[in-house]
Amino acid sequence: MANATWSAVDDYVAGLLAPHDEALDAAVRASGEAGLPSIQVSPPQGMLLHLLAKAMGAKAVLEFGTLGGYSTIWLARALPEDGRLVTLEAEPRFAEVAGGNIARAGLSGLVDLRVGPALDLLPELEAEGAGPFDLTFIDADKVHTPDYFAWSVDRSHPGSLIVADNVVRGGTLAEADSDDPTTAAQRRLHEEIAADPRVGATTIQTVGGKGYDGFTIALVGRSAS
Ligand code: SAH
Ligand code: DHB
Ligand code: MG
Repeated sequence: MANATWSAVDDYVAGLLAPHDEALDAAVRASGEAGLPSIQVSPPQGMLLHLLAKAMGAKAVLEFGTLGGYSTIWLARALPEDGRLVTLEAEPRFAEVAGGNIARAGLSGLVDLRVGPALDLLPELEAEGAGPFDLTFIDADKVHTPDYFAWSVDRSHPGSLIVADNVVRGGTLAEADSDDPTTAAQRRLHEEIAADPRVGATTIQTVGGKGYDGFTIALVGRSAS
């Protein structure tokens, strides 16, 4: 579902507040030319991720779902020189495009791009003692969002933020009897967060160039709820 007004407002906001530079333009162009699906975050959403990372002084960021590295670039640009962003991508062809986009943005030194299904990569990260992460962005396969969230809470510290994309999906989040497994997963995410005293969270519905959806934003610890 898209809507001309929502797109026009996204374009207006992006033009003034989240304008593209060469590297972001090139990333979108290269991703399109390589046939990647155009499902990256919108420019205003990319700017939100950037602002959150900056506001909290994030140094360690984890991302599930790299695609062409568009959200990766917004996030990595918020990091200090000694920061690090680990991003996980299942599709080698997408990861290759992302690697080029991240390099063109001058961010290869900050970004650790790993290829494989996230659930296979997490034990590796764990063995390396990765984390705790200041900010985690969950944007991969939607059925596993609650699993990625649970893993991320365990690798957070008091004050960490976790953002999960695409939790509203056209409003299906409110359908208790949905037989769509991605919807069921977003409901499980909400139920598990509600039952977890370590986490305070909310979900914000969004409209824009990508239609009607929304994201969950969670704060770990610090008497979060
Ligand atoms: N965060 C990106 C968009 C990600 S789209 C941006 O905003 O720019 C979702 C991505 O998750 C796709 O690239 C898809 O290949 C990847 N993905 C799907 N299943 C996955 C899995 N099991 N592990 C890691 N990545 C996965
Ligand atoms: C879609 C949108 C997303 O933001 C995403 O991460 C995955 C899929 C979609 O519209 O299909
Ligand atoms: Mg998404």
